[in-house]
Amino acid sequence: MSFKFIDLFAGIGGTRQAFEAFGGKCIFSSEIDEFACKTYFENFNEIPAGDITKINLDEIPKHDVLIAGFPCQPFSLAGVSKRNSLGRPHGLDCEDKDNLFYKIIEILKKKEPKAFFLENVKHLYFHDKGQTYQIIKKQLNDAGYDVCEKIIDASFVVPQHRERIYIVGFKKELKIKFTFPTFSDSNPQLRKILESKVEEKYTLSDKLWTYLQSYKQKQKDKGNGFGYGMANLDGITRTLSSRYYKDGAEILIPQNNKNPRRLTPRECARIMGFSDNFKMPVSDHQAYRQLGNSVVVPIVKKIAGRMIIYLYKNDPLVIPVLPLIKLQKSSKNSLNGAEITTMISLGERPLILANR
Ligand SMILES: C[S@@+](CC[C@H](N)C(=O)[O-])C[C@H]1O[C@@H](n2cnc3c(N)ncnc32)[C@H](O)[C@@H]1O
Repeated sequence: MSFKFIDLFAGIGGTRQAFEAFGGKCIFSSEIDEFACKTYFENFNEIPAGDITKINLDEIPKHDVLIAGFPCQPFSLAGVSKRNSLGRPHGLDCEDKDNLFYKIIEILKKKEPKAFFLENVKHLYFHDKGQTYQIIKKQLNDAGYDVCEKIIDASFVVPQHRERIYIVGFKKELKIKFTFPTFSDSNPQLRKILESKVEEKYTLSDKLWTYLQSYKQKQKDKGNGFGYGMANLDGITRTLSSRYYKDGAEILIPQNNKNPRRLTPRECARIMGFSDNFKMPVSDHQAYRQLGNSVVVPIVKKIAGRMIIYLYKNDPLVIPVLPLIKLQKSSKNSLNGAEITTMISLGERPLILANR
C-alpha cells in the first residue's frame, strides 16, 4: 500500500520525483505545455491531462496528497511590473492565470485530500504588501486546511541561489503541527557540477558578448547593477530563470582565452538537483525553459519526506521503507542520508530496516 497523489501544473515532474521517492503513486497529472508533456512522458511514461481549467472535477480521482507548482508569472516581480506598465490587473485580481489558484481550491474542497504541497516564487509572500498571500492562506484555511509556509534558499544543497516559497497544508481534523525541515549548508560549488567537455555552441558569439558587456557598462553608468552575471566557479550561481534560453546572461561561465559560455541543459538540470538519469528529449531552448520553471528536487524531497512521516507515522504499511533503505545505502553523507535520520526519529513505531 502506498499513498496516492496528483501532480498539477506538473511541468517536467520535478515535484513528482520527490513524492515518488517516498513511495507515492501518482494517479493523475495535468500540464498544458506540449513540450513539457514530452519530457514528462519520456521520464514517467505518462502524458499529463492538458489544461486544468478544462478538466471536469469528476475526471480527477480521489487522492491523499495534492501537489502543485502553480504558475508564478502574475506574482513575480517581472510579471507585476509588466502588467502595471500595460495597465493590466495583477495578483489575485488578475482574471486569467491567477484563477488557476482557485482551481486548486476547488479541487481541495471537492476531493478533500489529506494534505497538499504548493510551490511558488518567493515574491508571492511579499506581493501587494503581503495581502496576496494572506488571501491565499485564508482560501486554503477556509477549504479546511492548517497551512504553513517557508521560504527556502536552495543554495544549501545545490550551487544556485534560488529562493522559493513552499506552502504545506494538512486537513484540520488531522491536527498535524507540521514544521519544515532545516537544511545545513553543504557548501555546494558550481565547479563540481560542470561538464568536462562542452560543445562550442554554448560559447557566446563575439557579437552577443560585446552587446552584453556594453549593456552592463551602460547600466553601471546609470548607477544600476543590472547586466550579465559571471559565475564564481567556487560558489553558487544566480537563479536560473525560464528566460535563460534567450542569451544565458544571468549565468555565464568564464573560459580561458575565449568568450564565456552559458550552462548546458545538463548543467542546468544539475543545479536544479535533477539526477543525470533524467531525460531531456527536447531542444535546448525548451530544456532551459522547462528547467527554469521547475523545482530543486532535493529541497522538495526533504519536505515531502517530512510530510509523509507526519501523515503516516502511525501506519508503517504506508511508510515507504524500501526506498529509504536504497537512499541510505547510496548516499551516506548526502542530504538524503540526513533525511532518513530525521524521518526515522520522527516515527512513533521503530521501522525495522535491517531485515528488509
Ligand atoms: C512553475 S511551472 C511548474 C513546474 C513543475 N513544478 C516542475 O517540477 O517542473 C508551472 C507549469 O504550469 C503549467 N500550466 C500553466 N497553465 C496551465 C493550465 N491551465 N493547465 C495545466 N498546466 C498549466 C505551465 O505550462 C508550467 O509548466
